[in-house]
Order: sequence, then C-alpha cells, then structure tokens
Amino acid sequence: MSEQNNENHEPRREYTEAELAEMSRDEKMRLGLALDDVELAEYHDRWPVEGTRAERRAERAVAAWFALAGLSALAFIAVFLFWPWEYQSPDDEQAHFIYSLYNPLIGFFLGLSILAVGVGVVLYQKKFIPEEVAVQQRHDGHGSDEVDRQTTAALLADAGSRSGIARRSMIKRTAGFGVGAFGAGAGVYALGGLVRDPWGEEGQESLLHTGWAPEQGEKTYLRRDTGDAHDVSLVRPEDIDAGGFETVFPFRESMRHDEEELISSMRKGDAPVMLIRLRPDAMPVKRKGQEDFNYGDFYAYSKICTHLGCPTSLFEQQTGRLLCPCHQSQFDVINTYAKPVFGPATRALPQLPITVDEDGYFVATRDFIEPVGPAYWERRS
Ligand code: FES
Repeated sequence: MSEQNNENHEPRREYTEAELAEMSRDEKMRLGLALDDVELAEYHDRWPVEGTRAERRAERAVAAWFALAGLSALAFIAVFLFWPWEYQSPDDEQAHFIYSLYNPLIGFFLGLSILAVGVGVVLYQKKFIPEEVAVQQRHDGHGSDEVDRQTTAALLADAGSRSGIARRSMIKRTAGFGVGAFGAGAGVYALGGLVRDPWGEEGQESLLHTGWAPEQGEKTYLRRDTGDAHDVSLVRPEDIDAGGFETVFPFRESMRHDEEELISSMRKGDAPVMLIRLRPDAMPVKRKGQEDFNYGDFYAYSKICTHLGCPTSLFEQQTGRLLCPCHQSQFDVINTYAKPVFGPATRALPQLPITVDEDGYFVATRDFIEPVGPAYWERRS
C-alpha cells in the first residue's frame, strides 16, 4: 500500500461503478480511509516472518479454543437429547442425582461453547489481524453508498488476508468445527422440543385425560397429601368443616402395589383438586350440564389456574372465591361456578364430578369433562 494510491483518488467526488471495479483492494481501502478522514499512523502485519514457532503457537492457541467450542457444542447436543431428564424421586439417590444434573449440564456446555467461540475470535483478532494505530477526524456521517460498501469490504478483506487466514488451515478447520457445532447446538436448542415426542409413551390422547380418569372399573378416591407418599389418607365428608377446603389427589387401590404410581399420581401437573365445602347458606349457582357434579355442599375444582397454571390455593369462604396468588385471578364458586370474576384468567376452573361411596369416602365419578389448566388449541370455551 502506498501513500501515492491514496493521493490518486479524490475522496470527495462521485465514483462510477466502472471506476470502482478498476480499483485494486488496496486502493479501495485507502479511499475508504480518506472518505472517513482516517489516517493510519501504523499498520503492520503481526507476523512479518512466516512460520515462526511463536506464530505456530499462537495458531494452536486459537485452534484450541475453536475445538473446545465444537466439543462443548457436541456435548450440549448429546446431553440435551439423551440425558435422563425425567423427574426421579429423591428416594432413589443415584437416579435423582443424575436427573438433577440435566439443567446444569446443558447450561454449562452451551455456555462453554459460546465462551470458547468468543475467546477464539478475540484471540484471532489479537494475534493475527494487522496491528494498527489510526486517527480519525470527527465529521457528520452520511448514508452508505456503493463507495462506502466497497471500500469497507476492501478494508475488511485486507485485514483478513494480511492475518494470513488463507494459510492457517488448522484455524480454519477448528473454526469451522467450533462454529458449525455451535450453530447445530443452537438449532437443537430451538427445535429440540420437536425432536422428542412428548406423547411418545402415552400417546396424544394423554393430553385429554388426567389422573382422575377411571381405569379398569376401579374407584378413584380423593386422597390428601400428608407429606409421605406412602401414607394413603382418604377423605370423608366429616373431615372438612363448612367453609373449609382440602387439596386432594387421585388414588386407586392398585396404586398401593405400584410405588411409582403412588408417588407420580400426586406429582402430575393436572392432578391437584380443591375440594371445597361451601357454607350451608351459600346457595351456589350450578353450571348447565354439571348439576350433579357436587356432593351436597362439597364441590371439587381443578386447582390449576386457567391463566398460566399456578395453583389456585386460596379460598375465601365469605365470598366463596378461589384466588390465584400469581396474578390475582379470582374464581367465583358460588355465583358463577368458578368462572373468573377478576384478573387475567378467562376460563372457569374445570369441575370434577364427585360422590361418596358406600364406605363413606369421596370418589370421582369420572374425569374432568374439559381440559385442565391454561388454554390450548383444542379448547372450545
Ligand atoms: S396463573 Fe393464576 S392468575 Fe396467572
């Protein structure tokens, strides 16, 4: 690059495309600098003598970071897709420990991959892009035109070529691997939910049923949570005072012999139900078609808020309202069969049909007749 090139071109005049096409990269670069009122005080290659041991060492350091980025991205993909992510009870310490590593591991490997790509790029810039000291005069900017685009491209291409990227095959290969694997990891992250079929084992129908659905003619009892999954405590009408309530979960006798079911039936997101005993003077309005869903003063509603799925765990017996503490939705159990009367929820809490069996325990007569929780695509109301 010579000063003469810079002087050969008037920075302020208009350039035709033909003139730009005739210019060398070096000339365009000088022109770009002149247009921006930039004066290069120093501009020299980092490695004027090619192939020294120090240069090779620098190359290996950059390549190592890109390789680390690639390996981390591959590890992220592997963990994301294949690590046992399903909840494991703390009763099985080892399984629980392995399951609990899922989130930390995907965070660690994705973070490491991003970090390593960043460090690799910064290191490449510091070790190989020509060192420069430039002075620029401040002036009003003007919009980009063809001259700006071509001169900027020439400047970048010059820095790239003087960094010697063409002959640094180790860096090119590892950068390709690192950035490529990182891109694949980002793609898996974005599309991972589609890779794994959430209904793989239970079928798509599983979205339409809850743990309250009758199975093989067995009764589904209403069970309270005592804090010990093995302690089965069934609920009877005399357990709840007027104006009181209890959170209950589904229980079938066959679960006693299936430890996994015994525990998971209380952990399923659509299982919790609020069993409410209204005061005798409440005179609730019943929803059309659900007139026999209650048992006397006892009404059972899904505890999962129809806004965003928080537990509607507060019951105000004076007003007969269920409250969701997350965004303050209120559901009026007495006057509008648990339709929302305040807050962001738009749909009534589904009511569970209940009765009492011959032994005096509450049982569900069938599953909910509509989906539980926040709205989704099959919702009609
Ligand atoms: S989740 Fe209940 S109000 Fe938002």
